[in-house]
Amino acid sequence: MTIRLVELTGQDARVWLEPALDVYVTAMNYPRGTEVHRAALWREHIGRPGWRAVGAIAAVSATQARAPHVASRRLSRPVAIGDDELLVGIAYGYRGDRDQWWNQQLRTGLRQAGTPRRVVDEITSDYFELTELHVHPSVQGRGIGQWLLGRLLAERPESKVLLSTPEIPAEDNRAWALYRRLGFSDVLRHFTFTGDPRPFAFLGRPLPLPDRPGPA
Ligand SMILES: CC(C)(COP(=O)(O)OP(=O)(O)OC[C@H]1O[C@@H](n2cnc3c(N)ncnc32)[C@H](O)[C@@H]1OP(=O)(O)O)[C@@H](O)C(=O)NCCC(=O)NCCS
Repeated sequence: MTIRLVELTGQDARVWLEPALDVYVTAMNYPRGTEVHRAALWREHIGRPGWRAVGAIAAVSATQARAPHVASRRLSRPVAIGDDELLVGIAYGYRGDRDQWWNQQLRTGLRQAGTPRRVVDEITSDYFELTELHVHPSVQGRGIGQWLLGRLLAERPESKVLLSTPEIPAEDNRAWALYRRLGFSDVLRHFTFTGDPRPFAFLGRPLPLPDRPGPA
């Protein structure tokens, strides 16, 4: 299967948003229906300063492309994005800012952890927020997530990238492995966002990332 990366634009959202949300729900193993609530939020994010999105597209035969589209809800196959293409990965983010909820949550968490105000200000300014990164389970473990991330973060004007990810025992999943491999370090651990009981970690690293090739 040949995979290529493409820039996703806000204007084309009606083409890629639904397949991207399908990748997200499938990769995160969230209940079907989650994508309905998420769609409005993802659309709102498109309008934020510095928003950028990259998709991983798999070329397949037209028959293959049509079949999973019909069966995607049942069989959890990727959703077709064109006649002979499936969207199999999505990464997006935008420039962080003090008026954003996520930024305010991070500031609260850092202050609760006793971080001096000057350091809180330093951490929570001049950063790119990696908001979403997901690869369809059928093609995980081939380096596509790393490739997407490298493309998304290339030539960013911000001095660092920050993200939040669910805490996992022993950091034992592909997301943690990827972030650690790329040199992300702890910013804040075991934080619970307002309205979500699960503990999350905030991780970050300076930009740019070192140059890395795509998957073999
Ligand atoms: C996290 C996630 C995006 C990572 O994407 P991925 O494509 O599966 O993972 P990577 O890009 O890190 O791929 C690395 C794997 O590919 C292999 N690989 C093959 N070629 C490679 C290459 N050229 N470069 C890097 N890795 C390569 C590695 O050996 C590694 O295998 P392993 O995971 O079995 O050890 C994906 O697993 C996912 O969507 N997970 C569920 C959702 C999620 O947790 N999202 C993040 C929430 S914050």
